[in-house]
Amino acid sequence: MIGLRTQGLTKRFGGLLVTDDVSLDIRPGELHAIIGPNGAGKTTLVNQLSGELRPDAGAVWLGDEDVTAVPLHGRACRGLLRSYQITSIFEEFTVLENAVLAAIGAKGGGYGFWRAMMGQEDARRQAEDALHATRLEARRDAAAGELGYGERRQLELAMALAAQPRLLLLDEPMAGMSIEESAAVVQLLQSLKGRYSMLLIEHDMDAVFALADRITVLVSGRAAFCGTPDEIRNHPEVRAIYLGDEQGEFTGVAHG
Ligand SMILES: Nc1ncnc2c1ncn2[C@@H]1O[C@H](COP(=O)(O)OP(=O)(O)O)[C@@H](O)[C@H]1O
Ligand SMILES: [Mg+2]
Repeated sequence: MIGLRTQGLTKRFGGLLVTDDVSLDIRPGELHAIIGPNGAGKTTLVNQLSGELRPDAGAVWLGDEDVTAVPLHGRACRGLLRSYQITSIFEEFTVLENAVLAAIGAKGGGYGFWRAMMGQEDARRQAEDALHATRLEARRDAAAGELGYGERRQLELAMALAAQPRLLLLDEPMAGMSIEESAAVVQLLQSLKGRYSMLLIEHDMDAVFALADRITVLVSGRAAFCGTPDEIRNHPEVRAIYLGDEQGEFTGVAHG
């Protein structure tokens, strides 16, 4: 497990300031959620943490190391993994083979002679553990191309886990899933708490408030507030700006 910090992170798309001087602190082992309206800049922020996008200004530290200039793959080798877009799924390979490849790929050894590597104890065990955690065991011998949408997202999660992350970036991992699949992911994340540092972006406020140790509220690219779920829930400005101060979803969260 490792922490991640940013200082003064800033990103513009043309004239649009999308990341506005963001200083974020994800502590080792915590599940840190980022919430904010659509277009607030959540994904753009994650892209700068993962290394997909270079900031215009500011810095990113992984533990004690300044990784601002380290590209995506280098950050992945250091254990900073995103639940998707980091490893492409090989459609014609089985679920298990994909997970093994993710485990091998994380070691930086490349995919050469991967079939021979299938016998490699560590990668295989990591892959099987990841499929167990994501409840994909029964589908291990199915071709990845045959998976339904929710199963596919679970496989993406499994592949990130098989790579043994130290910090996991999850940008809307439940998007497009059925209620049952979403509930399974919430349970999975709950079970992973304390084993990995996690950054979670999620629209489902019930899930966020149930899972998060701390929450950062992003407003127009700015990290406007950070606190525990209770602090965020009871913060008058957060209620006014983002959650709304009326009966309804937010009140429901308070009782969830
Ligand atoms: N590659 C890009 N080029 C230009 N504008 C972008 C690009 N990516 C995102 N944006 C804009 O940046 C803002 C933040 O987007 P995004 O980070 O996706 O927000 P969120 O994930 O919070 O919904 C939006 O206004 C979006 O249209
Ligand atoms: Mg987004």
